[in-house]
Amino acid sequence: MSYARVEIAPSILASDFARLGEQVRMVEEAGADVIHVDVMDGHFVPNISLGIPVVESLRKATKLPLDVHLMIDQPERYIADFVRAGASRVLVHEESTVHLDRAVAMVREHGAEAGAAINPATPVAMLGEVLDKVDTVLVMTVNPGFGGQKFIPNTYEKIRQLNHMRARYNASFRIEVDGGVDLENTAALAQAGANTFVAGTSIFHTADPAAATRQLKKLATQALSQKA
Ligand code: DX5
Ligand code: ZN
Repeated sequence: MSYARVEIAPSILASDFARLGEQVRMVEEAGADVIHVDVMDGHFVPNISLGIPVVESLRKATKLPLDVHLMIDQPERYIADFVRAGASRVLVHEESTVHLDRAVAMVREHGAEAGAAINPATPVAMLGEVLDKVDTVLVMTVNPGFGGQKFIPNTYEKIRQLNHMRARYNASFRIEVDGGVDLENTAALAQAGANTFVAGTSIFHTADPAAATRQLKKLATQALSQKA
């Protein structure tokens, strides 16, 4: 079975935080499927973003699932807090913990969907032992830490590899892509096997974030139906 559904996940990192509720409503009405929330600690990545109170506020502002991407060292320390705050999905980085299996198990025990994320330089083989225990694999298509970076094309091959592994093991995890995703590369990413498209700059740094959301969804859906 392949995981055919397309999801557009606007990343609020690129939004205007002073108008967060309004911006989230705008993309929700335009057909966004998930809201992507980037948590950065200044250690695992060289930037600091937002934390638990913002997730709590977002939980009240939208009905969409909240996709909480933890770019923090030893994410196990905060999994319970983020789920309690309203995270529907929690994504932990393979590189951020020596106990990835424990971290993904913790996410599920607390009642959220679990995702494992890998940086551009990390091979997909590092996730081999958890592929049957995650709902999502997040392939970083830029080095994490900042919005607005250039997509790294070598990551296509990792998406294809994951797509083959998913088919071979009859698994159903989503393949999520994050970083530099835009109108240029979305169709190719969908054809490589991606299902969930995180997009910050290409949605919120445009004149019409609602139109950008709709366009990305259309491109990904069309590419996936051509593939099938
Ligand atoms: C980067 C974050 C991304 C970021 C993507 O570390 O994980 O989610 O917001 O932003 P764009 O789409 O601008 O590359
Ligand atoms: Zn992210």
